[in-house]
Amino acid sequence: MITFHDVYKTYLMGETRVEALQGVTFELPERRLAVIMGPSGSGKSTLLHLAGCLDTPTHGRVNYNGTDLGALSSRGRADFRAQSVGFVFQKFNLIPNLTALRNVEIPLLLQNKPAAEARKRALDALDAVELRDRMHHRPSKLSGGEQQRVAIARALINDPKLILADEPTGNLDTRTGQRILLLLKGLVEKGKAVVVVTHNPEIAASANTLVLLRDGKVESFSTSHGKEGLV
Ligand SMILES: Nc1ncnc2c1ncn2[C@@H]1O[C@H](COP(=O)(O)OP(=O)(O)O)[C@@H](O)[C@H]1O
Ligand SMILES: [Mg+2]
Repeated sequence: MITFHDVYKTYLMGETRVEALQGVTFELPERRLAVIMGPSGSGKSTLLHLAGCLDTPTHGRVNYNGTDLGALSSRGRADFRAQSVGFVFQKFNLIPNLTALRNVEIPLLLQNKPAAEARKRALDALDAVELRDRMHHRPSKLSGGEQQRVAIARALINDPKLILADEPTGNLDTRTGQRILLLLKGLVEKGKAVVVVTHNPEIAASANTLVLLRDGKVESFSTSHGKEGLV
């Protein structure tokens, strides 16, 4: 479970202060699909970065299953990111000169895991997104949807409990986006917490929890705890 408690994030740009988040409080349950919506600039990516320990709040607390993320050492933060979180981005962020397989196994190799283990887990992750037959392709030889599925496989490689996706279907056509949505829903069924920033109304419609941000504040929050197997 992720809890935001009175979270502020202020960016300093020279003389200018940008108040990206201004007193955000809410709770996202485990094993559920949460969707964050809001206009451009409303603080959605900032919120995701804080949840994934890529950044720290200026004020307030972000708590993950009892751990105050802001209180972690830089080593603790890196461990949290490596072990507990999988990130998926709008622009896929794959390494262009590496094959799909290498892109997926790279997080494990960076952690000095044995090559054979990295290979096996990367193949399993590519199976999970149904792309084993493309494992030797470089990103430029894959469609946008396939690249995003490789990125999801890479996010899954450490079997993280929390998947954070920032506009994952933003660069994809509707049908391809639907496939990515099904994949994300499947992850919830496998017990993961999935948090998606999106403008896609279909993804929003299948959310268990919907957070609407505006100007760095929560404009509305709705959740449907009790419903079993909602996604
Ligand atoms: N690293 C940064 N430095 C300065 N300003 C930033 C930074 N990141 C985001 N911002 C600003 O914070 C506000 C919220 O940004 P962001 O969280 O990216 O919004 P969204 O993802 O909803 O479009 C915007 O005004 C943006 O320009
Ligand atoms: Mg954003």
